[in-house]
Amino acid sequence: LLPPLQDAQGRTMTYLRLSVTDRCNFRCSYCSPASWGGKKDLLSPEEFERIASVFARMGIRRVRLTGGEPLIRPDIVDIVRRIAALPGMEQVAITTNASHLERLAVPLREAGANQLNISLDTLSEATFRSISKQGDFASILRGIDAAVGAGYAALKLNVVTMRGVNDAEAPALVAYAHARGITPRFIELMPFGQGTPVPTAELVERLQASGLSLVPDDEQHGATAGPATYWRAPGGRVGFISPLTQNFCGGCNRVRVASNGDLRSCLGGRAQAPLHALIRGGATDAELALAIRAALGEKPEGHRFTEPGAGAYLLPMMGIGG
Ligand code: GTP
Ligand code: 5AD
Ligand code: SF4
Repeated sequence: LLPPLQDAQGRTMTYLRLSVTDRCNFRCSYCSPASWGGKKDLLSPEEFERIASVFARMGIRRVRLTGGEPLIRPDIVDIVRRIAALPGMEQVAITTNASHLERLAVPLREAGANQLNISLDTLSEATFRSISKQGDFASILRGIDAAVGAGYAALKLNVVTMRGVNDAEAPALVAYAHARGITPRFIELMPFGQGTPVPTAELVERLQASGLSLVPDDEQHGATAGPATYWRAPGGRVGFISPLTQNFCGGCNRVRVASNGDLRSCLGGRAQAPLHALIRGGATDAELALAIRAALGEKPEGHRFTEPGAGAYLLPMMGIGG
């Protein structure tokens, strides 16, 4: 074991987000600009395992696999199996658009994934088509049903709310999710692409005005928690992720590695340690740990999405994995 991974503000990193590909079969307007071609040179399952094992020895308890769309990698089940088997790893979670879950929900759970977050912004095929030029809507709904039947410890639905696009559907999305035992979560759109965000407070009011009773739930803290806050409704919980109106950077426990091995200590920050180059150059685990620690030493206090110049170093969401 190595000392815990802390930044200069004293925040301890326990949650690693690994983006396993920067390509996606959907290309939603808020996530992937038309010009994004993706990079080559992805890490192999062995390399992801090696990186995750170094992080695990520094106290990472939870890995989330993201993308692009992680399930388009043909070796995704192997990646999950390797990471889930690491000593000290308590949770392996995946964020997916569900399009490949009909086939993969059961194999991924058997390989050790215990939580899925599924991105679904609308129940209307026409609205879906306005957000995603390429996705197959029917495959999402089949994928969600497969996930519900596969016995995951937790399923969540990620809804990125966009004014005038899908905000009116919030009550219907809550009902859809709760009917399947899924926790819906509404996410304030971050400025990585097109669309206008809806502040969480406004959405809560709209849900209440639709007749949904919502009471604040106990906060979820601790090593494995993400940035959402939760409310209780009669049919289950409802989550909100509010990077714009309720900044959660002060409690950040997260670090990211992109599919090409670049470490980012903040979603809104620059690429830092090039872990793939270090691995190929023959770096030892101790040298990798040193590079990781140095990058975390420079973790920003928080994101500055809206600051002038941020666009110059921000990848599209599709390249960072959210
Ligand atoms: P749970 O751990 O299951 O709560 O999931 P999560 O919210 O950590 O991960 P998920 O991939 O489902 O992301 C949901 C939303 O939260 C996406 O819009 C992410 O971009 C956003 N998100 C996750 N982590 C961070 C973070 O560290 N900073 C910011 N600004 N947004 C984040
Ligand atoms: N703002 C907020 N969330 C986003 N996501 C993708 N792009 C954005 C954005 N601009 C979400 C996806 C997915 C998660 C990884 O990030 O919907 O659920
Ligand atoms: Fe952490 Fe950066 Fe996300 Fe803020 S924006 S919660 S500091 S990763």
